[in-house]
Amino acid sequence: MSLRLGDIAPDFKAQTTQGEITFHEWLGNSWGMLFSHPADFTPVCTTELGRTALLKGEFEKRNVKVIAVSVDDLESHGRWVPDINEVNNTVVNFPIIADGDRAVATLYDMIHPNASEKTTVRSVFVIGPDKKIKLTLTYPASTGRNFNELLRVIDSLQLTANHQVATPADWQNGDDVIVVPAVTTEEALARFPELNIVKPYLRYTPQPGK
Ligand code: BEZ
Repeated sequence: MSLRLGDIAPDFKAQTTQGEITFHEWLGNSWGMLFSHPADFTPVCTTELGRTALLKGEFEKRNVKVIAVSVDDLESHGRWVPDINEVNNTVVNFPIIADGDRAVATLYDMIHPNASEKTTVRSVFVIGPDKKIKLTLTYPASTGRNFNELLRVIDSLQLTANHQVATPADWQNGDDVIVVPAVTTEEALARFPELNIVKPYLRYTPQPGK
């Protein structure tokens, strides 16, 4: 069965371009983003890994450790990384898992045989400091992911975790947010003095921390 939100992200040991890791230990108390790539030396993946490297500061600001997985071996990753660096004018600064035996891809259900028998789809798992899965996304191999959207979702997840607020449709960082239903209006008024009660169940407040 596939992994669901709220499940513990399965732990594993793997070889990566930055040495052997045990996933949970490597995550420590950070948030994590594990994302798969169909294969080395493929065009869309080359742009995605470069974009991720260029966003290093944005992930660090959010205390998110990023790790990629591709079903090729370390030797292949080692030959591919210089291309990623050259094409994107960056330096890949996060580990790429060598998953030649597809152990991680299988554990995380990243191979969808009716799409491709041999390579992964583009999966994303955002994992909280409690090791629980907070977000899953699945894109086809032919569509590169929107990394601004990934950062936006992480911002939303962290606001919920830290402030008990949710984010409305098309929310962007800095827009007003919504107090989650679990907070009573009495408590919401005490915690969020600028509360705007549009409906008893729809209560906006300026984004905490802005
Ligand atoms: C890729 O770049 O990974 C890719 C592009 C089109 C189809 C399949 C894979």
